[in-house]
Amino acid sequence: MKKIDVEICFGTTCFVLGGSHLQELENSLDNDLKEKINIIPQNCLGLCKNENYSQAPYVKVNGQIIDRATIEKVINKIKCEINE
Ligand code: FES
Repeated sequence: MKKIDVEICFGTTCFVLGGSHLQELENSLDNDLKEKINIIPQNCLGLCKNENYSQAPYVKVNGQIIDRATIEKVINKIKCEINE
């Protein structure tokens, strides 16, 4: 099965607006989920420009944008992708 790409933005805007805690994502996953994903740190996903900065932090799961990302939202999205 192809792994699910999880791109986490650690750019300044995302990091300041709550992205720093997303570093804990990997530790929050059980081993079964860990094996199914690739975590890809990014410097800026280019989504924080103009008025969109307030929707940070951003994560992409298989290219699909999650705004105001939390660990819970990202895990839910990963599970959705696995079940599709
Ligand atoms: S800093 Fe995260 S999208 Fe730009």
